Amino acid sequence: MRYTLPLGSRPFGPLCIMPQMEVVELEPRPTNRDNRLYGASELSGLGRTGHQSQRRPQHNQDPDHDAESTVAVFPDELDRILEKLVIVVPCKDEPVDVIRGVIAGIPSRCAVILVSNCSHQHGENGWEAQERMLAGFCAWGREGCFVHQQYPGAAMAFKEAGVPEILDTASGRIRNGKGEGMYLGIAMAKSYFPHHQYIGFIDADNRIPGSVVEYCKAYAGGFALAQRSAAKSGTEREDVMVRISWASKPKYSASTGRIEFVQQGRSSRIINSFLNRLFAKAGQQDEFITTGNAGEHAMTMEMALKMRMANGYAIEPFQYIEPLLRNKIPSANLPNASQTTRIVQIKTANPHLHRETGDEHIIKMWAAGLGALYHHLLGVDSVSGLGTTTLATLRKDMHRFALQNGAIQGQEELPRPNIYPSLDNADLDSFRDLLGEPCSGHVYEGLGFYGLVDQAWASSGTNSPASQSTLEHDSWGEDDQRSSASSEEEPEVLSDSSKQGE
Ligand code: GDD
Ligand code: MG
Repeated sequence: MRYTLPLGSRPFGPLCIMPQMEVVELEPRPTNRDNRLYGASELSGLGRTGHQSQRRPQHNQDPDHDAESTVAVFPDELDRILEKLVIVVPCKDEPVDVIRGVIAGIPSRCAVILVSNCSHQHGENGWEAQERMLAGFCAWGREGCFVHQQYPGAAMAFKEAGVPEILDTASGRIRNGKGEGMYLGIAMAKSYFPHHQYIGFIDADNRIPGSVVEYCKAYAGGFALAQRSAAKSGTEREDVMVRISWASKPKYSASTGRIEFVQQGRSSRIINSFLNRLFAKAGQQDEFITTGNAGEHAMTMEMALKMRMANGYAIEPFQYIEPLLRNKIPSANLPNASQTTRIVQIKTANPHLHRETGDEHIIKMWAAGLGALYHHLLGVDSVSGLGTTTLATLRKDMHRFALQNGAIQGQEELPRPNIYPSLDNADLDSFRDLLGEPCSGHVYEGLGFYGLVDQAWASSGTNSPASQSTLEHDSWGEDDQRSSASSEEEPEVLSDSSKQGE
């Protein structure tokens, strides 16, 4: 990946936010300049080298994107990180074909956890079909796990781990919500992929598998650059989060009869505008924050375990505030917060095309996102030089916007998000013990493991991928057995023995 060089990071106490980098080349070729710049890039916002600023662009070269105003990460470095990346895909009732497209785009080096909150079990788009689809991918060598958010064992495991907050008091199951699904995904990743160092999230309703490939590589590139930057500045440990914004969000416009390539979604536009007031430089508001609502984001596993998480769609905006709160509110329940949190924002080359949602959904997202900021800004007494009066004005304006745009009514407050505790404080050993070893036969109930090769689980014969696949096949219906058989027949056509017979 080649990115524009980010200049002008902004520090806010324990939080360092980098300006948006843009992907300018998906598969760059190393140049002499890249080699020279490899160790010399200014990634922490200290400015360009004198040589860079004096250099004139060559003929036909985009002055904004010449090699010296860009920074590249090459495949070997990306692969090293992709190997250690778990991608969590939260899904609900998306058609299996759509989810399949997303899984198809995730580089096979990455492990995948499909966290489903699908409303039905059977049928061509029920959760059993989602699980079989994932199992099919994993039969080609990928590591994966399927878990249903309503799987009773997952609720019991959280209870055992000391996280009753995530449970719905009436049903005793894990609460509904995207944030809740992601929280479950993090707990599963830590429990079953203990050697993976990064975790990323990709929505299941993405219609462009090629953009999914780019998100994963952009995550890996972002981590690689943050590592270079840390090594250069002698920073030992840093929490890093990579957040994605898109080249565009294509939308059909009934009035023009055309697809319009809008820059930001309706929800992102609003959340970003308030975050830009919060993180403005010396009172000058600009478009510094482009990823307030980034559903597509990734972080170091250490950071994912450390962060408290908000429910539903409040989860992403809250991530901008949480590191500030962690340091501001000393509490026995908050993990040690001495480490810097770096946010890397990356704009992809691909557009983002997903399920079109109605006004009602967007209004709910405004309420959730603004509510997360509104209530928790109270714990942040001063950010970027903004005094308490300015923060109070900002909160008042959020409330006014929500009221004027139907996100709240009358005397209503913005919704206060549920905040789930840092998983560092949870007993994840008990969580895993309760769910059991991978391949231990939960596949009928909403939990399945595929192709796990972790040494820790390889102690008994029943844990081998081969015996596991027997279990999977046994649980399939007649039609599925037929399709599985036909997919196994196909390679024979290409096998050496069949060639000999030709
Ligand atoms: N497991 C699980 N549980 N998944 C869920 C749940 C749930 O309760 N609710 C939603 N999801 C999944 C959906 O199936 C989808 O794959 C993904 O989360 C995003 O949900 P959408 O309903 O498609 O959200 P959106 O497109 O309006 O918003 C997305 O983009 C925003 C930024 O533009 C989300 O990613 C937001 O979180 C993000 O802020
Ligand atoms: Mg969507």
